Amino acid sequence: MKDLIAQVTVSEMLNKDFARITIDAPEIAETCKPGQFVHIRCGQGVYSLMRRPISVYQVKDKTLVLLFQIKGEGTKWLSRRRPGDFVDLIGPLGQGFTLPEKGPVWAVAGGIGIAPLCFLVQEIRQKNIPLVMFFGARSKDSLCLIEEIKNWGVDIRIATEDGSAGVRGFVTELFEKSLYASKPEAIYACGPESMLKTVVNLAKDLGVESQVSLEERMACGLGACRGCVTMIQRNGKLIYENVCSSGPVFLGREVVFDE
Ligand SMILES: Cc1cc2nc3c(=O)[nH]c(=O)nc-3n(C[C@H](O)[C@H](O)[C@H](O)COP(=O)(O)OP(=O)(O)OC[C@H]3O[C@@H](n4cnc5c(N)ncnc54)[C@H](O)[C@@H]3O)c2cc1C
Ligand code: FES
Repeated sequence: MKDLIAQVTVSEMLNKDFARITIDAPEIAETCKPGQFVHIRCGQGVYSLMRRPISVYQVKDKTLVLLFQIKGEGTKWLSRRRPGDFVDLIGPLGQGFTLPEKGPVWAVAGGIGIAPLCFLVQEIRQKNIPLVMFFGARSKDSLCLIEEIKNWGVDIRIATEDGSAGVRGFVTELFEKSLYASKPEAIYACGPESMLKTVVNLAKDLGVESQVSLEERMACGLGACRGCVTMIQRNGKLIYENVCSSGPVFLGREVVFDE
């Protein structure tokens, strides 16, 4: 884990809500695994005191590529960094996904949950393991980068809630229907909690192992403040684990979702 001041080399607005930046941070890029994240100091003054956790979207030529949705002050500040600007980041943090040994593998993304899954699917493609990606969003405005993902050779299936792209409905419905035709060896998911809960329950019914990336508000990001705990069921016991240091990726069957 490194704490660095690193230079932004590329900064792109993909549409009004989504941005992507590339950061020259080989010390982090060289050891980073899919599902891990960096913790970035965004801005100056009171907003910079709490770093923002952002997953690694891609590692390219020893640089880190981050894809993020502009939500509040921190991500707005990050989206305004220009090539040549510097950012203060710590990483790689957390426990990432365990890569599969065989396929087919299914990856299910909801909204900006696509970010860590993109790094994962690129690694899986390099192992020549068959993969299908399901991606759900509110409308086609939230679907950036589809062509790029297709160019990686990924079979990507899309659902939008308003039907403006792909199949109308939730991505979980598309995912469930696909289960009638075939069964994956492993399932990976990142997105809203309600989506993760449905995916995990379907995986349990099928007897397929799932790994899910959870999102919690974070303070230290290092396992010290216990501000990001989630309940896990393991070996018959209920325990609290830090999402930042024991996760953000957990085995789906171990996660205790809210009723
Ligand atoms: C492990 C992890 C990986 C993430 N990866 C990505 C990613 O790749 N792309 C992306 O767009 N978003 C990602 N997020 C969500 C991202 O961290 C929040 O959208 C961001 O922190 C919002 O900050 P803000 O200042 O723009 O918004 P504000 O709402 O103004 O944030 C105020 C405070 O709340 C915290 N906060 C707000 N929302 C979240 C949230 N959902 N999760 C954690 N802290 C939050 C911020 O850190 C900040 O301290 C990730 C979250 C986690 C936990
Ligand atoms: S954010 Fe401090 S322990 Fe996780």
